[in-house]
Amino acid sequence: MLRRLLVQVSTQHLCLFRPSAYSFRQCSSSSSSSSQIPDSSFVEHLEDLNQSNETTTQASAKISIDRSGLYNPPEHSHEPSSDSELVKHLKGIIKFRGGPISVAEYMEEVLTNPKAGFYINRDVFGAEGDFITSPEVSQMFGEMIGVWAMCLWEQMGQPNRVNLIEMGPGRGTLMVDLLRGASKFKKFTESLHIHMVECSPALQKLQYDNLKCVDEDDTGGIVDKRTISTLAKTPVSWYATLEQVPTGLPTIIIAHEFYDALPVHQFQRASRGWCEKMIDVAEDSSFHFVLSPRPTPATVFLMKRCKWAMAEELAKLDHIEVCPKAMELTQSIAKRISSDGGGALIIDYGLDGIASDSLQAIRKHKFVDILDNPGSADLSAYVDFASIRHSAEEVSEDVSVHGPITQSQFLGSLGINFRVEALLQNCTEEQAESLRTGYWRLVGEGEAPFWEGPDEEAPIGMGTRYQAMAIVNKKQGAPVPFQ
Ligand SMILES: C[S@@+](CC[C@H](N)C(=O)[O-])C[C@H]1O[C@@H](n2cnc3c(N)ncnc32)[C@H](O)[C@@H]1O
Repeated sequence: MLRRLLVQVSTQHLCLFRPSAYSFRQCSSSSSSSSQIPDSSFVEHLEDLNQSNETTTQASAKISIDRSGLYNPPEHSHEPSSDSELVKHLKGIIKFRGGPISVAEYMEEVLTNPKAGFYINRDVFGAEGDFITSPEVSQMFGEMIGVWAMCLWEQMGQPNRVNLIEMGPGRGTLMVDLLRGASKFKKFTESLHIHMVECSPALQKLQYDNLKCVDEDDTGGIVDKRTISTLAKTPVSWYATLEQVPTGLPTIIIAHEFYDALPVHQFQRASRGWCEKMIDVAEDSSFHFVLSPRPTPATVFLMKRCKWAMAEELAKLDHIEVCPKAMELTQSIAKRISSDGGGALIIDYGLDGIASDSLQAIRKHKFVDILDNPGSADLSAYVDFASIRHSAEEVSEDVSVHGPITQSQFLGSLGINFRVEALLQNCTEEQAESLRTGYWRLVGEGEAPFWEGPDEEAPIGMGTRYQAMAIVNKKQGAPVPFQ
């Protein structure tokens, strides 16, 4: 059903949200020619894992090699290449390393390469862009996140100074709606210092403009100038990573559709065990998938993830995605919340368990091949919420993890129904149509029942595909609405 809906959406050139049915992709090299791995210490290590934890299946105690996929450099050519800068860069890494790169490395370069990454130089959101996100669907989304943040701030004892951090703010729309919605609660807005964690200079500039920022220098140049959002007279700062954000104040962290952009490693069960899927250059100079010839560094994370899983869950899987960056980010968030107090809200599409083969590419609201023209399409993968929970709990006893619950439950419990009713009281017919459609997209499931237009253009709900999870300092108790 979901696949059908997505196909309808993409073929009708409507705005595409990113979660989809899994698109199974076979490695271009089959696993049939695999042979035993020479590194016996690694095999023993996996066997130890099986003995100490019954969750790993027998097949995972061995790893196979597909030698047909080993790197074979293409003939040197003097033909002019039509490859983009990013494609040349990726091929350069593969060539100079003398072997294929992991899917995670490919994904990271494609999305965030400082010169040519997908996010780096442009605005990719909305009908004119490649995909659409909840904050762009309706102002109500950012407003509800604002309600959540204010409730947490209340539970924290209304501190006078708070770090409000947003991870990957896109156009900054969520923060704009949050500040506007909270503008009557001066004590809250006056406590805030906003910190935007954004790797894209182009999006940083857009966020600056949309937050209606001005640079103030009332210190005579003694200290760096401060940037203020005139929406709520709130200071705003930008960083490339969370580690750069100052610590020491109670903290509220929002990560909406951030985790799904973090690079995933893909493993495939072959006849002799789990192998990492890698990307190589074929003889015709195109990219293709191969299986790793030996254990890769990411295998450590596969083993870690498998330890957190039940044997029945693993037994069903032929593919496993692991996201070390998500584990590391979660641990960094959990440590910060342990020491500074506060909490984090993570909203994304995903599962409360291992994601199998979910990596997808979207260009101009259509699904495309992951390896096709890298840098021109968004890459994203399902978020493994169970892994986030385990990562947070592993690193700190001072935090508690809540959820995931569906976006529909989350927004419904925070009162989005009342908000839409209030907005509908005072709007034009056209605005009412847009509000109803936006509301359905945020909380509905499947096609909107009230829709009277063409079937293929019916708004499709994200209410159950998106999940919300909170990580909070235990001192504050369970956050709204996870009690
Ligand atoms: C899918 S978009 C989500 C945007 C926004 N949260 C929304 O919902 O509209 C991902 C955002 O994270 C940023 N981003 C992706 N990877 C990042 C990284 N490794 N470090 C910092 N920002 C990153 C992108 O530039 C973009 O702003």
